[in-house]
Amino acid sequence: MENAGNSDRPNHHWRRLLPLLSLFLLLGLTNSSSLPQEDPSSTITRFQEYLQINTAQPNPDYKKSTDFIVSQAKSISLESQTHEFVEGKPVVLLKWPGSDPSLPSILLNSHTDVVPSEHSKWNHHPFSAHIDGQGNIYARGSQDMKCVGLQYLEAIRKLKSSGFEPKRSVYLSFVPDEEIGGHTGAEKLAESDVFKNMNVGVVLDEGLASPTENYRLFFGERSPWWLVIKATGAPGHGAKLYDNSALENLFKSIESIRRFRASQFDLIKAGLKAEGEVISVNMAFLKAGTPSPTGFVMNLQPSEAAAGFDIRVPPSADPQSLEKRIAEEWAPASRNMTFELGQFKQKVSVYDDSGRPLLTAPDSSNPWWALLEEAIRKAGGKIGKPEIFPASTDARYFRLLGLPAIGFSPMVNTPILLHDHNEFLNQAEYLKGIDIYESIIKAYASYIPQGRANVSKDEL
Ligand SMILES: *[C@@H]1O[C@H](CO)[C@@H](O)[C@H](O)[C@H]1NC(C)=O
Ligand SMILES: *[C@@H]1O[C@H](CO)[C@@H](O)[C@H](O)[C@H]1NC(C)=O
Ligand SMILES: [Zn+2]
Repeated sequence: MENAGNSDRPNHHWRRLLPLLSLFLLLGLTNSSSLPQEDPSSTITRFQEYLQINTAQPNPDYKKSTDFIVSQAKSISLESQTHEFVEGKPVVLLKWPGSDPSLPSILLNSHTDVVPSEHSKWNHHPFSAHIDGQGNIYARGSQDMKCVGLQYLEAIRKLKSSGFEPKRSVYLSFVPDEEIGGHTGAEKLAESDVFKNMNVGVVLDEGLASPTENYRLFFGERSPWWLVIKATGAPGHGAKLYDNSALENLFKSIESIRRFRASQFDLIKAGLKAEGEVISVNMAFLKAGTPSPTGFVMNLQPSEAAAGFDIRVPPSADPQSLEKRIAEEWAPASRNMTFELGQFKQKVSVYDDSGRPLLTAPDSSNPWWALLEEAIRKAGGKIGKPEIFPASTDARYFRLLGLPAIGFSPMVNTPILLHDHNEFLNQAEYLKGIDIYESIIKAYASYIPQGRANVSKDEL
């Protein structure tokens, strides 16, 4: 049959190959119909659908967001559980089981609530998820942080359809009330037995948009201290110049606080420190005066005055020396000012439960950090210098337990619009973020420390 000189040999070959070829074609078709290519437009539609659910504080529609997330989970065969540690405050937990349950798991956290918005100051209604001509999706939560929650899910959808199987279990938590402190959501989850049983080894949570081409990674955050100082002094006629009035006493403190504020701000302006690395102090209120039917009594110097400050303390700061400064310079008893530690409206520790600074190591000593950087670069992303988150996130509840928690929201070339009017995210940027998470989840869920068949959480 394959004799040399046979002129119809090629034809003959083709005839033999045809059935094989059609078999391949058939296989190819079956394959692509069981593993459909993800249609970007339906990915965007799902994002819009999530954005359109009004989960604004103070009355978030958690029923709707829970139903949505659970239905998304079902569509990609993830296990789901809803826990109400506090009634009406659902924590939705999804699980993609890993093949080796002895390995600590990965937790991908996001909050479902958003801050309120002043609808009239937006160009498009904040729950319309309107897409403009440039592909910008306008909605409250488009940056903070419904994008991230759904990107986790979309990345898993893609990984599943590519046939990837995780070694470590991957959990997704969708938690309520981050925007009002997280006490009914992430804090309760972190303290729960449910959480202990998850054997979490690393947590990813939110970061911030980056106006440059570099992704931003956060390894800690500043602790909020809300301070109220009060002054008393003899009251007096408005015409009299005398020492030690309540307002004069308070103003000495305010001057001192403002000098400190300027010294910290100067470090940022000089480029010596980043925003998250200094102690910020901003006055939140000033309360003084004797009310009258038309406003305030004008010819009377009041006997009491108070001021409130929002202070943010980075984990690198020395809290004792700040407390000393408050007691000796900002609210000294010698000036008839009152201040006690218990008078803080809120004072979050800069240490974790074992007394270590509330930080996640941002270098190669932490395999999760190194893996994350590598996975982002592999997906074509660039990375800026590790940062301290200037405000608070739910990540602190996980860091308090001593767990590594990294803040990351994959948005580059994007203005920082969280809590602002006209918050938006570009759809191409959203889709790119899914690819970035695909790379990260793949790396994290496959990670086995070198030379160790057995690992305990402590060793990670
Ligand atoms: C503190 O209050 C006392 C009692 O009212 C007063 O005699 C004293 O002058 C005040 N000192 C200052 C520094 O305001
Ligand atoms: C891993 O740990 C288990 C339980 O401690 C033990 O039975 C097993 O032999 C260990 N495997 C290896 C490869 O060390
Ligand atoms: Zn947020």
